[in-house]
Amino acid sequence: MTSDPTKLDGNTETARFAGLRFEDFRRMAEDSSLNIYEKIGFPKEFREGHEERIFSDILTKVETLTKCHKRVLDVGSGCSELPRLIIRHCVEREHELVLLDAREMLDMLPDERCATKIAGRFPDDCYELTSHVKDGFDAIIVYSVLQHVFLEANPFVFVDSLMALLRPNGGLLLGDIPNVSKRHRFLSSDAGVAYHRAYLRTNGLPEVKIDQIEHGRITDAVILGLVERARTAGFDAFVLPQPAELPMANRREDILIRRP
Ligand SMILES: C[S@@+](CC[C@H](N)C(=O)[O-])C[C@H]1O[C@@H](n2cnc3c(N)ncnc32)[C@H](O)[C@@H]1O
Repeated sequence: MTSDPTKLDGNTETARFAGLRFEDFRRMAEDSSLNIYEKIGFPKEFREGHEERIFSDILTKVETLTKCHKRVLDVGSGCSELPRLIIRHCVEREHELVLLDAREMLDMLPDERCATKIAGRFPDDCYELTSHVKDGFDAIIVYSVLQHVFLEANPFVFVDSLMALLRPNGGLLLGDIPNVSKRHRFLSSDAGVAYHRAYLRTNGLPEVKIDQIEHGRITDAVILGLVERARTAGFDAFVLPQPAELPMANRREDILIRRP
């Protein structure tokens, strides 16, 4: 496995942590041989030392998080430093926070008075959420989760169910979405080729499969389809880039949905 988090050969992301579904995460959460990053499906190099910057980026995108006394939902919280930063921020801002993931993941996170942990798979198996919805949430964070939902559920139903929980002026961030079309665009550019050659120490060209369906991978069509769906449902929706310094910015992007 490479120690370079920006390497684009695909091996690091696709081999060891490929095709992870909710039940895989549940199992990984209990596997004591894995560190907190591996438990959420990332080689340590992709997350360790990067999560403060990831959270700062989330704060610039979901404005309501920077206010006080808001209602916040984090779907697919995981167990690394990122949900801990979210919890600390919510304590400081006196937000009411709901963390939603498998029980095994949530058990690894600290307990705070402002935070309610709800175990289950969104939207179908988290019955307890109903009593915590009240009139919805001002901020919903779904970071690095959509690609896993995409493997086992209808992403439109998933996003529709999230939008239904958004209060007026609320923001829903579907963050850190690996977009294979974006990855191919980058690898087809001079910069992408130079990048590939530098990191693989090769003179070869990267493999770019633009005319083939890659099953289980999110493409431009999925991203733009979700944006169109949100807009049709009366929300504002945008595709946003990640700051270049984030480790997977050259192949991932975010969708921000706001309820007017
Ligand atoms: C790649 S991890 C991301 C964790 C965290 N959001 C982060 O970025 O550090 C994906 C997480 O989403 C959770 N997950 C996957 N599908 C889910 C679903 N349908 N409902 C709730 N959680 C889900 C997994 O259990 C896992 O903890």
